Amino acid sequence: MRIIPFATVTSTQDIAKSFIANREELVIWAKEQKRGRGRFEREWYSPPGGLYFSLLLFPRSSEILTIHLKLFWATIKGIKDLVNLLPFFKWPNDIVYDGKKLGGILLEMEKDAIIAGCGINVNNEIFPEYIKDAISLKSLLKREIPIEELLQSIIARFQNCPNFATILSEIRKRNFLKGKYIVLNSHRRRIKGTAMDIDEEGRLILQKEEGGLLTLSSGEIEKVYEYK
Ligand code: BTN
Repeated sequence: MRIIPFATVTSTQDIAKSFIANREELVIWAKEQKRGRGRFEREWYSPPGGLYFSLLLFPRSSEILTIHLKLFWATIKGIKDLVNLLPFFKWPNDIVYDGKKLGGILLEMEKDAIIAGCGINVNNEIFPEYIKDAISLKSLLKREIPIEELLQSIIARFQNCPNFATILSEIRKRNFLKGKYIVLNSHRRRIKGTAMDIDEEGRLILQKEEGGLLTLSSGEIEKVYEYK
């Protein structure tokens, strides 16, 4: 996949969308974003030193449900290949280490394209007050990380994914929430229970506090307890 680099953009998601008409799958990479966004239209703090990229993809309909987990898998493996640290998947879209947020993934659709964005805190170590529990690779590893090599390492993994069963089993092993008692919000409901597993569509399987299993395709984690 061709990587198109930019110095400063509003959001790599928007730049990727502007390439849809060309029908070429590619990677939009920026050193800095002025209006980076996360889920729920929240701001994604994007100073120089982080890695910000969006994949423009034209998947077959059967592939759509797996893209999120594939990109997640490629990201944690790409990080591991370059710096020997294997992060965790915190459902639904966080990349975490030591329980702190290293990065996140955002999927958007436009026409028949999927724009899969990923932001990782790499060499940026200082976060504004309103960002809680963030961490960067540099703070974890105590050294500067080559950002372009990290991007290449992630893209190489994305283009050489193993079969989906392998991806799912490896992601399940890095499921940060597994076995933890959590409080989450989904479709305006506040739900409590124990996170059990991730299913083959990337949904969270939750053992409800009041009994019974729930399979959630979206939601936001409010609190995580180590033990109930
Ligand atoms: C989240 O955790 O809410 C997802 C964050 C996704 C951020 C990335 S950075 C590259 C791409 N461009 C954006 O504006 N957002 C995504």
